[in-house]
Amino acid sequence: MSCTIIVGGFFGDEGKGKIVAHIAHQDRPSIISRGGVGPNAGHTVCIGDKEYGVRMVPSGFVYPEAALMIGSGVLVDPRVFLREVDLLGVRDRTFVDGRCGVIEEEHIARDRASEHLRDKIGSTGTGCGPANSDRVLRTSRQAKDVPELADYITDVAEDVNCALDEDKVVLLEGTQGFGISLYFGTYPYVTSKDTSASQIAADNGVGPTRIDDVIVVFKAYPTRVGEGPFATEMPVERSHELGIEEFGTVTRRQRRIGTWDGKMARYSAMINGCTQAAITGIDRIDPACFGATDYDRLTVKAKDFIAQAEKDIGKPVTLISTGPEMSQIIDLRGKL
Ligand code: IMP
Ligand code: MG
Repeated sequence: MSCTIIVGGFFGDEGKGKIVAHIAHQDRPSIISRGGVGPNAGHTVCIGDKEYGVRMVPSGFVYPEAALMIGSGVLVDPRVFLREVDLLGVRDRTFVDGRCGVIEEEHIARDRASEHLRDKIGSTGTGCGPANSDRVLRTSRQAKDVPELADYITDVAEDVNCALDEDKVVLLEGTQGFGISLYFGTYPYVTSKDTSASQIAADNGVGPTRIDDVIVVFKAYPTRVGEGPFATEMPVERSHELGIEEFGTVTRRQRRIGTWDGKMARYSAMINGCTQAAITGIDRIDPACFGATDYDRLTVKAKDFIAQAEKDIGKPVTLISTGPEMSQIIDLRGKL
């Protein structure tokens, strides 16, 4: 059996989606299950020549053999969910835990009308904060109360634990990033829940003793979207000089860009219980590394960067992403 958690180490948008997709194709999980907050997170997929922000279905959906699940800790927006399963053609292999909290239109309206959430915190306006607050007040509906979701309902905790009992491979996919954890992040400029690996396990009903690996994904140049402190943020002019410009998948807002934060990486690796790390965007540290699939093809500059990151994190960097395509990755797992 093997159970791996994949989480973001900085402020989200580290490129977890691609890392999950790569690991899925290599490790052939029978289940890829999502933890995290809800449809405030997103990853961009291209279907034909159109781009879509996928917000509910796990990003591992590109691996066609796995069942896709949403753990009971996650909030489900039935409208977003139903649109996505259709769009992605994953109706027959997608499941939602009956205990998931439900986002109603009214939660979205409250999120968007709230000066505190919208203006001060810079929320994504997807209703997650108000829905989680109603869930804590125990007034909100659960996924099993929504007739439109009836075909998708399962007990994710049971399914995942049974798969592990049968020696199968399971990936638990986190969302957002460590820095916006409600418990450990830059409160109050955080999301409405913890985002660390322990929470992702809990969201899926998997006990801590069943986790084999925690892969924390760090971005060479971290980004932050929304308000709140960002210790290594660089002036916009500098990021333009470097040719870095990014926009949020869900909100389309421009992301703030920063340089590597060794102190945050260390703290994040500690709380996540990191066993190995992934670094994305190494081609931004040195464009000569673009597309490399072999460690020996990395430049001295890139290798020095990774060596420093390993020192900061205190664990090996086993996955190095060198470009946006799935194939543009160096995978050192099992080689160390
Ligand atoms: P909320 O989660 O929509 O309430 O937003 C709270 C804060 O978390 C805001 O600063 C958002 O920009 C940020 N946030 C929420 N989800 C994500 C994400 O997936 N990536 C990056 N930032 C996020
Ligand atoms: Mg994202």
